Amino acid sequence: MSTRKEIKRIAIFTSGGDAPGMNAAIRAVVRTATFNDFHVYGIYRGYDGMIKGDIHRIESNDVANIMHRGGTMLKTARSRDFMSPEGRKMAYESLMANDIDACIAIGGNGTFTGAKFFSEEFEIPFVGIPGTIDNDLVGTDYTIGFDTSVNTAMRAVDKIRDTADSHNRLFFVEVMGRNSGYIALNTGIAAGSSAVLVPESDASVDDLILMLRKGAKRNKLFSIVIVAEGNKFGGAIEVAQAVKDKFDFYDTKVAIIGHLQRGGSPTCFDRVLASRLGHAAVGALLEGKRNVMVGQLNNEISYIPFDDAINKPKEINADLLALAEILAL
Ligand code: F6P
Repeated sequence: MSTRKEIKRIAIFTSGGDAPGMNAAIRAVVRTATFNDFHVYGIYRGYDGMIKGDIHRIESNDVANIMHRGGTMLKTARSRDFMSPEGRKMAYESLMANDIDACIAIGGNGTFTGAKFFSEEFEIPFVGIPGTIDNDLVGTDYTIGFDTSVNTAMRAVDKIRDTADSHNRLFFVEVMGRNSGYIALNTGIAAGSSAVLVPESDASVDDLILMLRKGAKRNKLFSIVIVAEGNKFGGAIEVAQAVKDKFDFYDTKVAIIGHLQRGGSPTCFDRVLASRLGHAAVGALLEGKRNVMVGQLNNEISYIPFDDAINKPKEINADLLALAEILAL
Protein backbone atom coordinates (compact mmCIF):
# COMPACT_ATOMS: atom_id res chain seq x y z
CA MET A 1 0.00 0.00 0.00
CA SER A 2 1.79 3.18 -1.09
CA THR A 3 1.85 5.75 1.69
CA ARG A 4 0.34 9.06 0.70
CA LYS A 5 3.05 11.58 -0.12
CA GLU A 6 3.29 14.19 2.63
CA ILE A 7 1.77 17.45 1.43
CA LYS A 8 4.11 20.44 1.59
CA ARG A 9 3.16 22.49 -1.48
CA ILE A 10 -0.44 23.32 -2.43
CA ALA A 11 -1.45 24.87 -5.74
CA ILE A 12 -4.67 26.86 -6.03
CA PHE A 13 -6.54 28.01 -9.13
CA THR A 14 -9.87 29.40 -10.28
CA SER A 15 -11.68 27.94 -13.25
CA GLY A 16 -14.86 28.46 -15.27
CA GLY A 17 -17.05 31.55 -14.96
CA ASP A 18 -15.68 33.96 -12.35
CA ALA A 19 -17.81 34.68 -9.28
CA PRO A 20 -17.72 37.43 -6.61
CA GLY A 21 -16.09 35.94 -3.53
CA MET A 22 -13.46 33.90 -5.37
CA ASN A 23 -10.78 36.30 -4.09
CA ALA A 24 -12.04 35.83 -0.53
CA ALA A 25 -11.71 32.06 -0.98
CA ILE A 26 -8.19 32.41 -2.41
CA ARG A 27 -7.26 34.61 0.56
CA ALA A 28 -8.64 32.07 3.06
CA VAL A 29 -6.78 29.19 1.41
CA VAL A 30 -3.45 31.07 1.34
CA ARG A 31 -3.75 32.30 4.93
CA THR A 32 -4.92 28.93 6.33
CA ALA A 33 -2.25 27.00 4.39
CA THR A 34 0.47 29.41 5.52
CA PHE A 35 -0.74 29.09 9.12
CA ASN A 36 -0.24 25.31 8.73
CA ASP A 37 3.27 25.72 7.24
CA PHE A 38 2.29 24.78 3.71
CA HIS A 39 3.79 26.66 0.76
CA VAL A 40 1.12 27.93 -1.64
CA TYR A 41 1.42 28.34 -5.40
CA GLY A 42 -1.07 30.16 -7.61
CA ILE A 43 -1.91 28.73 -11.03
CA TYR A 44 -3.02 31.58 -13.30
CA ARG A 45 -5.89 31.12 -15.81
CA GLY A 46 -7.16 27.81 -14.59
CA TYR A 47 -6.33 24.57 -16.35
CA ASP A 48 -4.81 26.48 -19.29
CA GLY A 49 -2.25 27.93 -16.88
CA MET A 50 -1.65 24.50 -15.36
CA ILE A 51 -0.84 23.12 -18.83
CA LYS A 52 1.40 26.10 -19.66
CA GLY A 53 3.12 26.10 -16.25
CA ASP A 54 1.89 29.60 -15.29
CA ILE A 55 2.50 28.76 -11.63
CA HIS A 56 3.92 31.18 -9.06
CA ARG A 57 4.45 31.27 -5.29
CA ILE A 58 1.79 33.14 -3.30
CA GLU A 59 2.33 34.33 0.26
CA SER A 60 0.04 35.90 2.84
CA ASN A 61 0.79 39.48 1.88
CA ASP A 62 -0.02 38.68 -1.77
CA VAL A 63 -3.69 38.24 -0.81
CA ALA A 64 -3.94 41.46 1.17
CA ASN A 65 -6.63 43.93 0.09
CA ILE A 66 -8.56 41.53 -2.16
CA MET A 67 -11.43 40.45 0.13
CA HIS A 68 -13.73 43.16 -1.21
CA ARG A 69 -12.89 42.69 -4.88
CA GLY A 70 -15.01 40.77 -7.39
CA GLY A 71 -13.40 38.64 -10.07
CA THR A 72 -10.33 36.48 -9.37
CA MET A 73 -6.71 37.59 -8.88
CA LEU A 74 -5.67 34.25 -10.45
CA LYS A 75 -7.70 34.97 -13.58
CA THR A 76 -9.75 32.11 -15.04
CA ALA A 77 -10.34 30.35 -18.34
CA ARG A 78 -12.27 27.45 -19.82
CA SER A 79 -9.69 24.94 -21.09
CA ARG A 80 -10.51 22.69 -24.04
CA ASP A 81 -6.97 21.24 -24.00
CA PHE A 82 -7.36 19.94 -20.45
CA MET A 83 -10.21 17.68 -21.56
CA SER A 84 -7.65 15.62 -23.54
CA PRO A 85 -5.27 13.07 -21.94
CA GLU A 86 -2.34 14.84 -23.64
CA GLY A 87 -3.37 18.15 -22.10
CA ARG A 88 -3.71 16.60 -18.65
CA LYS A 89 -0.28 14.97 -19.02
CA MET A 90 1.27 18.37 -19.78
CA ALA A 91 -0.54 19.79 -16.74
CA TYR A 92 0.83 16.98 -14.57
CA GLU A 93 4.36 17.68 -15.79
CA SER A 94 3.96 21.36 -14.90
CA LEU A 95 2.79 20.44 -11.39
CA MET A 96 5.72 18.04 -10.97
CA ALA A 97 8.17 20.69 -12.21
CA ASN A 98 6.96 22.87 -9.33
CA ASP A 99 6.89 20.00 -6.76
CA ILE A 100 3.17 20.52 -6.21
CA ASP A 101 1.71 17.87 -3.86
CA ALA A 102 -1.99 18.85 -3.92
CA CYS A 103 -4.41 21.20 -5.68
CA ILE A 104 -7.37 23.30 -4.56
CA ALA A 105 -9.75 24.14 -7.41
CA ILE A 106 -12.30 26.97 -7.10
CA GLY A 107 -15.02 26.62 -9.72
CA GLY A 108 -18.15 24.77 -10.79
CA ASN A 109 -19.30 21.59 -12.45
CA GLY A 110 -16.85 21.75 -15.35
CA THR A 111 -13.94 22.45 -13.02
CA PHE A 112 -14.64 19.40 -10.87
CA THR A 113 -15.20 17.23 -13.94
CA GLY A 114 -11.67 18.08 -15.07
CA ALA A 115 -10.29 17.46 -11.57
CA LYS A 116 -12.02 14.07 -11.45
CA PHE A 117 -10.47 12.94 -14.76
CA PHE A 118 -7.06 14.21 -13.65
CA SER A 119 -7.17 12.50 -10.26
CA GLU A 120 -8.02 9.18 -11.96
CA GLU A 121 -4.79 9.45 -13.95
CA PHE A 122 -2.32 11.07 -11.55
CA GLU A 123 -1.56 10.76 -7.85
CA ILE A 124 -2.26 14.38 -6.88
CA PRO A 125 -5.10 15.03 -4.41
CA PHE A 126 -7.65 17.67 -5.41
CA VAL A 127 -10.13 19.49 -3.19
CA GLY A 128 -12.85 21.61 -4.78
CA ILE A 129 -14.46 24.84 -3.57
CA PRO A 130 -17.86 25.63 -5.17
CA GLY A 131 -17.36 29.02 -6.86
CA THR A 132 -20.06 29.85 -9.39
CA ILE A 133 -22.97 32.30 -9.41
CA ASP A 134 -25.32 29.54 -10.65
CA ASN A 135 -25.75 27.74 -7.29
CA ASP A 136 -26.23 24.53 -9.29
CA LEU A 137 -24.13 22.16 -7.17
CA VAL A 138 -25.49 19.58 -4.73
CA GLY A 139 -23.48 19.20 -1.52
CA THR A 140 -23.74 22.85 -0.59
CA ASP A 141 -26.71 25.09 0.15
CA TYR A 142 -24.97 27.98 -1.58
CA THR A 143 -22.10 28.39 -4.02
CA ILE A 144 -19.74 31.33 -3.69
CA GLY A 145 -21.00 34.25 -5.79
CA PHE A 146 -24.67 33.30 -5.83
CA ASP A 147 -25.74 35.76 -3.10
CA THR A 148 -23.88 38.67 -4.69
CA SER A 149 -25.27 37.81 -8.12
CA VAL A 150 -28.87 37.68 -6.90
CA ASN A 151 -28.45 40.99 -5.09
CA THR A 152 -27.13 42.55 -8.31
CA ALA A 153 -30.07 41.15 -10.30
CA MET A 154 -32.58 42.22 -7.63
CA ARG A 155 -31.35 45.83 -7.65
CA ALA A 156 -31.44 45.87 -11.45
CA VAL A 157 -35.08 44.70 -11.40
CA ASP A 158 -35.92 47.34 -8.78
CA LYS A 159 -34.70 49.95 -11.28
CA ILE A 160 -36.70 48.35 -14.11
CA ARG A 161 -39.77 48.45 -11.86
CA ASP A 162 -39.57 52.28 -11.72
CA THR A 163 -39.73 52.67 -15.50
CA ALA A 164 -42.22 49.82 -16.03
CA ASP A 165 -44.51 51.57 -13.52
CA SER A 166 -44.04 54.97 -15.20
CA HIS A 167 -44.95 53.63 -18.66
CA ASN A 168 -47.36 50.80 -17.81
CA ARG A 169 -45.04 48.32 -19.51
CA LEU A 170 -44.64 44.53 -19.54
CA PHE A 171 -40.93 43.73 -18.99
CA PHE A 172 -39.20 40.42 -19.57
CA VAL A 173 -35.92 40.41 -17.62
CA GLU A 174 -33.36 37.70 -18.37
CA VAL A 175 -30.92 36.52 -15.69
CA MET A 176 -28.04 34.03 -15.80
CA GLY A 177 -27.84 30.60 -14.20
CA ARG A 178 -27.01 28.35 -17.15
CA ASN A 179 -29.44 25.41 -16.70
CA SER A 180 -30.40 26.36 -13.16
CA GLY A 181 -33.30 28.57 -12.08
CA TYR A 182 -31.89 29.51 -8.65
CA ILE A 183 -30.87 33.04 -9.63
CA ALA A 184 -34.19 33.66 -11.40
CA LEU A 185 -36.33 32.27 -8.58
CA ASN A 186 -34.63 34.20 -5.79
CA THR A 187 -34.51 37.39 -7.88
CA GLY A 188 -38.21 37.01 -8.71
CA ILE A 189 -39.25 36.68 -5.09
CA ALA A 190 -36.92 39.44 -3.83
CA ALA A 191 -37.94 41.89 -6.57
CA GLY A 192 -41.65 41.03 -6.40
CA SER A 193 -41.99 39.93 -10.01
CA SER A 194 -45.30 38.88 -11.58
CA ALA A 195 -43.86 35.56 -12.77
CA VAL A 196 -40.64 33.57 -12.89
CA LEU A 197 -39.71 31.17 -15.72
CA VAL A 198 -37.14 28.57 -14.67
CA PRO A 199 -35.75 25.52 -16.55
CA GLU A 200 -36.91 23.20 -13.73
CA SER A 201 -40.60 24.14 -14.06
CA ASP A 202 -43.00 22.55 -16.57
CA ALA A 203 -45.20 25.69 -16.71
CA SER A 204 -46.08 26.65 -20.30
CA VAL A 205 -46.21 29.99 -22.10
CA ASP A 206 -50.02 29.65 -21.98
CA ASP A 207 -49.78 29.38 -18.17
CA LEU A 208 -47.76 32.59 -18.18
CA ILE A 209 -50.32 34.34 -20.39
CA LEU A 210 -53.13 33.21 -18.08
CA MET A 211 -51.23 34.56 -15.05
CA LEU A 212 -50.60 37.91 -16.77
CA ARG A 213 -54.25 38.17 -17.83
CA LYS A 214 -55.34 37.63 -14.21
CA GLY A 215 -53.05 40.48 -13.21
CA ALA A 216 -54.38 42.73 -15.95
CA LYS A 217 -57.96 42.03 -14.76
CA ARG A 218 -56.89 43.26 -11.32
CA ASN A 219 -55.75 46.49 -12.98
CA LYS A 220 -52.10 45.49 -12.70
CA LEU A 221 -50.91 48.33 -14.92
CA PHE A 222 -47.42 46.92 -15.44
CA SER A 223 -45.74 43.54 -14.99
CA ILE A 224 -42.22 42.15 -14.69
CA VAL A 225 -41.42 38.56 -15.66
CA ILE A 226 -38.03 37.08 -14.68
CA VAL A 227 -36.71 34.65 -17.29
CA ALA A 228 -33.86 32.24 -16.49
CA GLU A 229 -31.57 32.09 -19.54
CA GLY A 230 -31.87 28.29 -19.60
CA ASN A 231 -35.68 28.43 -19.63
CA LYS A 232 -37.16 25.85 -21.99
CA PHE A 233 -39.04 28.47 -24.05
CA GLY A 234 -35.85 30.40 -24.70
CA GLY A 235 -34.55 33.64 -23.20
CA ALA A 236 -36.38 36.89 -22.53
CA ILE A 237 -36.40 37.90 -26.21
CA GLU A 238 -38.05 34.64 -27.32
CA VAL A 239 -40.61 34.67 -24.50
CA ALA A 240 -41.48 38.34 -25.15
CA GLN A 241 -42.00 37.53 -28.85
CA ALA A 242 -44.38 34.70 -27.93
CA VAL A 243 -46.42 36.83 -25.51
CA LYS A 244 -46.47 40.45 -26.66
CA ASP A 245 -49.29 40.14 -29.24
CA LYS A 246 -51.60 38.72 -26.55
CA PHE A 247 -51.63 42.03 -24.67
CA ASP A 248 -52.38 45.02 -26.89
CA PHE A 249 -52.63 47.29 -23.84
CA TYR A 250 -49.06 46.51 -22.65
CA ASP A 251 -46.00 47.99 -24.33
CA THR A 252 -43.58 45.01 -24.10
CA LYS A 253 -39.87 45.47 -23.36
CA VAL A 254 -36.87 43.20 -22.74
CA ALA A 255 -33.87 43.69 -20.41
CA ILE A 256 -30.94 41.25 -20.27
CA ILE A 257 -28.85 41.76 -17.13
CA GLY A 258 -26.02 39.58 -18.43
CA HIS A 259 -22.48 39.78 -17.05
CA LEU A 260 -23.33 42.48 -14.54
CA GLN A 261 -24.33 39.46 -12.41
CA ARG A 262 -20.75 38.15 -12.46
CA GLY A 263 -19.01 41.25 -11.08
CA GLY A 264 -19.10 43.57 -8.14
CA SER A 265 -17.86 43.52 -4.58
CA PRO A 266 -18.98 40.31 -2.85
CA THR A 267 -21.67 40.55 -0.18
CA CYS A 268 -20.94 39.80 3.47
CA PHE A 269 -22.62 36.42 3.02
CA ASP A 270 -20.35 35.46 0.12
CA ARG A 271 -17.22 36.71 1.89
CA VAL A 272 -17.98 34.66 5.02
CA LEU A 273 -18.98 31.58 2.96
CA ALA A 274 -15.80 31.86 0.87
CA SER A 275 -13.65 32.27 3.99
CA ARG A 276 -15.21 29.22 5.64
CA LEU A 277 -14.87 27.05 2.53
CA GLY A 278 -11.31 28.16 1.81
CA HIS A 279 -10.31 27.27 5.37
CA ALA A 280 -12.18 23.95 5.14
CA ALA A 281 -10.48 23.02 1.86
CA VAL A 282 -7.05 23.19 3.51
CA GLY A 283 -8.47 21.27 6.47
CA ALA A 284 -9.68 18.55 4.11
CA LEU A 285 -6.14 18.08 2.75
CA LEU A 286 -4.77 18.01 6.31
CA GLU A 287 -7.27 15.23 7.11
CA GLY A 288 -6.13 13.22 4.09
CA LYS A 289 -9.32 13.82 2.08
CA ARG A 290 -9.02 13.93 -1.71
CA ASN A 291 -11.27 14.45 -4.75
CA VAL A 292 -14.03 16.02 -2.69
CA MET A 293 -15.84 19.35 -2.85
CA VAL A 294 -16.24 21.23 0.40
CA GLY A 295 -19.66 22.79 0.99
CA GLN A 296 -21.90 24.29 3.62
CA LEU A 297 -25.09 22.36 4.45
CA ASN A 298 -27.40 23.70 7.18
CA ASN A 299 -24.55 25.97 8.21
CA GLU A 300 -22.19 23.00 8.76
CA ILE A 301 -19.10 22.27 6.64
CA SER A 302 -19.71 19.23 4.40
CA TYR A 303 -17.67 17.16 1.97
CA ILE A 304 -19.06 15.53 -1.15
CA PRO A 305 -17.13 13.34 -3.64
CA PHE A 306 -16.56 15.00 -7.03
CA ASP A 307 -18.55 12.21 -8.66
CA ASP A 308 -21.70 13.18 -6.74
CA ALA A 309 -21.13 16.93 -7.05
CA ILE A 310 -20.84 16.52 -10.83
CA ASN A 311 -23.52 13.94 -11.53
CA LYS A 312 -26.33 14.62 -9.05
CA PRO A 313 -28.64 17.38 -10.38
CA LYS A 314 -29.56 20.06 -7.84
CA GLU A 315 -33.37 20.21 -7.56
CA ILE A 316 -35.05 23.62 -7.45
CA ASN A 317 -36.71 24.41 -4.13
CA ALA A 318 -40.38 23.53 -4.83
CA ASP A 319 -41.61 25.52 -1.81
CA LEU A 320 -39.89 28.65 -3.11
CA LEU A 321 -41.38 28.05 -6.56
CA ALA A 322 -44.88 27.80 -5.04
CA LEU A 323 -44.22 30.87 -2.89
CA ALA A 324 -43.21 32.92 -5.93
CA GLU A 325 -46.54 32.08 -7.56
CA ILE A 326 -48.65 32.88 -4.48
CA LEU A 327 -46.93 36.20 -3.81
CA ALA A 328 -47.37 37.28 -7.44
CA LEU A 329 -51.16 36.98 -7.31
O1 F6P B 1 -21.58 29.63 -15.01
C1 F6P B 1 -21.64 31.01 -14.76
C2 F6P B 1 -22.24 31.72 -15.96
O2 F6P B 1 -22.35 33.09 -15.67
C3 F6P B 1 -23.59 31.20 -16.39
O3 F6P B 1 -24.65 31.65 -15.56
C4 F6P B 1 -23.65 31.74 -17.80
O4 F6P B 1 -24.55 31.03 -18.62
C5 F6P B 1 -22.21 31.53 -18.27
O5 F6P B 1 -21.39 31.56 -17.10
C6 F6P B 1 -21.74 32.59 -19.23
O6 F6P B 1 -20.45 32.16 -19.65
P1 F6P B 1 -19.44 33.23 -20.34
O7 F6P B 1 -18.95 34.15 -19.24
O8 F6P B 1 -18.35 32.37 -20.88
O9 F6P B 1 -20.23 33.97 -21.36
